[in-house]
Amino acid sequence: MLLGAPGSGKGTQGPRLAQRVGVPYLSTGDLLRREAAAGTDLGARVAPYLAEGELVPDDLTLEVVDRALAGAGAEGGFVLDGFPRTVAQADRLGDVDVVLHLALPDDVARLRLAARDEGRADDADPEVIEHRLRVYHDQTAPLLDHYAKRGTLVSVDADRPPAEVMAELDAALDAAAPRAPG
Ligand code: AP5
Repeated sequence: MLLGAPGSGKGTQGPRLAQRVGVPYLSTGDLLRREAAAGTDLGARVAPYLAEGELVPDDLTLEVVDRALAGAGAEGGFVLDGFPRTVAQADRLGDVDVVLHLALPDDVARLRLAARDEGRADDADPEVIEHRLRVYHDQTAPLLDHYAKRGTLVSVDADRPPAEVMAELDAALDAAAPRAPG
């Protein structure tokens, strides 16, 4: 799984990592945004949290996550981006093979998010960006300790060009799960 602040590069690196390992890429942010855009009942309940940069309540998040994990589990694994985001979510998920932490200073994250132009409701307002960073530090960063104690955490300096970050993630993956030759 990929762990990191908003703007740390989870969505940039995740799909390629999943392709490399040959498993599905699951981003809870993407799944929740898709649900909101589809205008389903669930999407309508989720949308205000997304717009405010607030964590979506667990009962709503888990509806989306459980569905996606059930499908991905059948394919032999997954790369997770954006889940778990709290210690309670981590307890629910159970063990993971490796946690790749994309370490990035907040000031760099702010610049990246302000520059991103994908029409995301949670990028438009600097106050919402600040709030997302606060939510990350308060609720998600405690997972760093949680996974460090389990020996599954690898931290990578994400304040470098994407190709350099990618190379270090690849090396971390190889070290965590050596592949058979050939
Ligand atoms: P989510 O979609 O997960 O958003 P986020 O954590 O805020 O992260 P971002 O997608 O903004 O950043 P990223 O780390 O993917 O960086 P990216 O690669 O895009 O969650 C959104 C919302 O969904 C949450 O606020 C919450 O409401 C809800 N949610 C999701 N999961 C939940 C859960 N488990 N429980 C409850 N609620 C949940 O890169 C950012 C920018 O930087 C891009 O423009 C990119 O091109 C650029 N960039 C990337 N890497 C580099 C680099 N190395 N150098 C220079 N630029 C770079």
